[in-house]
Amino acid sequence: MGMDCSSSLRVVLVVFVPLLVLIVSSVVVVMVVSPGESSSLLSPVMGFWSHKNRGRSIIHSSHNTSMAYENALSSSPPPLGPTPQPVMNITRKVDYQLERLEAELKRSRIAIREAAQQKNHTIHIEDEDYVPNGPIYRNANAFHRSYLEMEKKFKIYIYPEDVVSRKYRYWNRSRGADHFMLACHDWGPHVSWAIPYLTKNSIRVLCNANSSERFNPSKDVSLPEINLKTPDPYGIIGGPSPSHRPTLAFFAGGMHGPIRPGLLKHWKGKDDDMKVYEYLPKHVSYYDIMKKSKFCLCPSGYEVASPRIVEAIYAECVPVIISDHYVLPFSDVLDWKAFSVEVSMADIPNLKKILMGISQRQYIRMQRRVKLVQRHFVLNRSPKRYDVFHMILHSIWLRRLNVQVFGEA
Ligand SMILES: *[C@@H]1O[C@H](CO)[C@@H](O)[C@H](O)[C@H]1NC(C)=O
Ligand SMILES: *[C@@H]1O[C@H](CO)[C@@H](O)[C@H](O)[C@H]1NC(C)=O
Ligand SMILES: *[C@@H]1O[C@H](CO)[C@@H](O)[C@H](O)[C@H]1NC(C)=O
Ligand SMILES: *[C@@H]1O[C@H](CO)[C@@H](O)[C@H](O)[C@H]1NC(C)=O
Ligand SMILES: *[C@@H]1O[C@H](CO)[C@@H](O)[C@H](O)[C@H]1NC(C)=O
Repeated sequence: MGMDCSSSLRVVLVVFVPLLVLIVSSVVVVMVVSPGESSSLLSPVMGFWSHKNRGRSIIHSSHNTSMAYENALSSSPPPLGPTPQPVMNITRKVDYQLERLEAELKRSRIAIREAAQQKNHTIHIEDEDYVPNGPIYRNANAFHRSYLEMEKKFKIYIYPEDVVSRKYRYWNRSRGADHFMLACHDWGPHVSWAIPYLTKNSIRVLCNANSSERFNPSKDVSLPEINLKTPDPYGIIGGPSPSHRPTLAFFAGGMHGPIRPGLLKHWKGKDDDMKVYEYLPKHVSYYDIMKKSKFCLCPSGYEVASPRIVEAIYAECVPVIISDHYVLPFSDVLDWKAFSVEVSMADIPNLKKILMGISQRQYIRMQRRVKLVQRHFVLNRSPKRYDVFHMILHSIWLRRLNVQVFGEA
């Protein structure tokens, strides 16, 4: 299950070069914002993140995030909500290292909250690469500040699952709350259910971000599913302008999962404007049609996530998301409404009417935004700032920021 072979595209996995070794083992747990002292035991992923905190010892953790991440970066209410409260409070030894670390995180929360309230974009943040701006973001200022804070403070250590709680004190200290696991395959959620505290406390980075299957958007991270069919994943990036996209909408894929049967029943072979196929005709290139289409339909298959969303963004085709209970990737910072269309299952019969109802002007705007948002979905062999690798890390960072860890002896 989980392989979407129907469109003759193989769903491989989202690959993080540095994390690859972990994906091979069943579940990988990685520690987030860990104390620098023990770094010899663990290998930091990204060298350029520094963390200066030092100290020693213990307490217990809270995972009371009263802050909904859904709204984390919207301008009002304030992005990160109140300071997280400890659930447990069994103090035996003071963990100065942890206290300093938490103080640092608190400063980040304040800085982000201030940035979120800045209405004007002339704040003095210098960034030679890129300054987030415009309607594709829920709050561009807050995102930018948060991203810069992440670069300064976020550090990740990796270790194999079976030793996590036995060998290192960090898991027990937070009961997993400052740890994350990453899995794209649909066994990911299932495996996590079996491990105490992993589902409850840890940040789970999953493609199968089905909110009716225990995916918790305020704690877990929706991982974009990316198809790495070609050795050069960038071959498909780019596409013609709106006026060179004669097809209204395109979909090709098998009849599985809860959504597609309805889509195929209503639209397969019914309408020339709606190129909806179960099997792509011979001699027709999937990516070519995407590039010739205004809208690319992205219905859920076996799982809520679909690699089509990222493919559509690469092909500069406005994605039409048809899913149920799917928490969209990076929806903590991106405003998906600005560059995609969401259609409910019930509205499948009205699909054409809905898409025809989008004016040319509005379409041009959305398509331009798809091009703007592309950088956040591009996978670089060696990660670049603001690319998909860093966006995933940023989502993890935000969730770590939402938790305050207290030690326990
Ligand atoms: C979490 O904290 C909020 C306010 O700090 C409180 O209202 C809520 O009951 C707490 N939830 C849990 C599960 O402790
Ligand atoms: C936690 O500890 C603090 C300081 O020791 C104390 O003031 C507070 O009442 C405790 N809270 C709970 C819920 O036990
Ligand atoms: C925008 O921010 C700058 C720097 O903080 C400030 O000097 C300026 O007055 C602000 N402009 C508006 C319209 O708020
Ligand atoms: C963490 O807790 C588990 C279960 O209580 C225990 O078996 C393990 O030894 C602890 N790990 C460390 C490093 O103390
Ligand atoms: C999402 O989860 C619900 C509840 O388990 C399930 O009924 C639904 O089919 C899932 N969606 C997909 C696309 O798998």
